[in-house]
Amino acid sequence: MSSVEFVKVPTLRSVEEFRGALERLAIDIPCEDPVEVGTCAPLAQPIQILGRTVSNRFCIQPMEGWDGTPDGRPSELTARRWRRFGASGAGLIWGCEAVAVRHDGRANPRQLMLTSETSAAIAQLREELVRSASESYRPPDGVPSRAQSPLIGLQLTHSGRFSRPNDRDRPEPVIAYHHPILDRRVNIGPDYPTITDGEIRRLIDCYAEAAKLAQQCGFDFVDLKHCHGYLGHELLSAHTRPGPYGGSLENRTRFLRELVEAVRSSAPGLGIAVRVSVFDIVPYEPDPSRSTPGKLGPGVPSDYCDAVPYLYGFGVDPEQPTEIDLSEPLAVFAILQELGLTLVNVTAGSPYYSHHIQRPALYPPSDGYQPPEDPLVGVARLLHAARYIKEVYPEFVLVGTGYTYLQEYLPNVAQGAVRSGWTDIVGIGRMALSYPDIIADCLAGHPLDRKRICRTFSDCTTAPRAGIVSGCYPLDEHYRRSTHAHALQVAKDALKRRLGG
Ligand SMILES: Cc1cc2nc3c(=O)[nH]c(=O)nc-3n(C[C@H](O)[C@H](O)[C@H](O)COP(=O)(O)O)c2cc1C
Ligand code: SF4
Repeated sequence: MSSVEFVKVPTLRSVEEFRGALERLAIDIPCEDPVEVGTCAPLAQPIQILGRTVSNRFCIQPMEGWDGTPDGRPSELTARRWRRFGASGAGLIWGCEAVAVRHDGRANPRQLMLTSETSAAIAQLREELVRSASESYRPPDGVPSRAQSPLIGLQLTHSGRFSRPNDRDRPEPVIAYHHPILDRRVNIGPDYPTITDGEIRRLIDCYAEAAKLAQQCGFDFVDLKHCHGYLGHELLSAHTRPGPYGGSLENRTRFLRELVEAVRSSAPGLGIAVRVSVFDIVPYEPDPSRSTPGKLGPGVPSDYCDAVPYLYGFGVDPEQPTEIDLSEPLAVFAILQELGLTLVNVTAGSPYYSHHIQRPALYPPSDGYQPPEDPLVGVARLLHAARYIKEVYPEFVLVGTGYTYLQEYLPNVAQGAVRSGWTDIVGIGRMALSYPDIIADCLAGHPLDRKRICRTFSDCTTAPRAGIVSGCYPLDEHYRRSTHAHALQVAKDALKRRLGG
């Protein structure tokens, strides 16, 4: 199927037409009309999370800007993004972005890092977000009352296989095990060392130290990131790793369990949450036979014939690794429950090798494959995974992912998903870059500003892949008019030429 056959969401004229499109794709997701407003509206319902009342059912997902300083402090661009997240009206702020716990775990030389040297600047960042939230607070009944601060977490990470701490063009992977497909992509040879057990233990100490700093900065919780191919996520699939952190599920979750224990002892009282990729598939790549000048082909699974049973994924069917299998992720939820965790952000895959399942988009980043399926199918897959987990583990507060591609119909599906119990909270990713106050507009019953709706042009991903700060270049004036926009165009043109365009 080529992209011309995909549903063009912006051309649909009503919720009815959108429902018709879903039906043609055989997608079953709740989509309500009208979207309710006021104190009884499903999306305006308060919810208890980590002992606090969160005022509504929206969450801003973590989104990195590749715009920190070389020593890991935020820049003015970072602060602007966090202020916009604060002003969005979301009751929960998850992130606001991945922050490395030490230098070698940075995904790029401009990723934020939480250390004793940077913590004052990161505390200030949080304060700016809180101030911006309180200045913009709009109660659902329209009656002004005490301004409410959102519940704010900080996402702690080590980028593992995708670390590039010193130079964006120089991968410095920290790997948990050798991956037959991903190793090839960055020339990791068979003798390349895997992270030692002792190094994993030292890394856990760094997380514990960072969590203590996060608590001192005033964050309500930390997210011990286990998603998107980074180290925590990779350890969940370390079937082939010998020793205490590989092999059995018990061993593959040891890092997570030890992290929780270490954070609890270094930062008593701090909330702990996890963002986890609950399913994955074998890495995808552009189909060379369908690439055209200047444009990579649609995604197809990389050749995995020599790697079956596929012991290199989490939430993947080992016999048929193009299919998902939620049995192990469900077992991990049982472990999270034993650990006493209650807040989980459900995501999937990785932006590096399975971007169509992780952030459904009609227009991929310019170095990425074209969508192999209608992106609405990807949205539905994410929503159904959260629904299934919520059915089995209703005690968890779940944040769902993958709502941006719904575009005009995001509020309709969000309301349906919350009312039907598919998720507790609706996570907003890219839409929060182009149009953060879609949340406030939705809660207030204002018509959506169609000019600011994210159309998944992916410039916010293409730019950092070219070493340029991330942002919504097509729709956010601040980026459109910046010098970075010119650099982005130059980089896109150069890539197109390299692809023969
Ligand atoms: C520019 C950009 C940066 C991102 N950075 C992070 C991050 O730091 N941590 C994370 O867990 N997810 C990150 N994500 C993924 C988003 O949180 C979200 O899962 C994804 O965009 C899908 O949600 P959406 O469809 O609402 O955009 C990022 C996504 C984008 C587009
Ligand atoms: S650049 Fe803007 S429109 Fe494009 S995906 Fe990112 S947020 Fe959406």
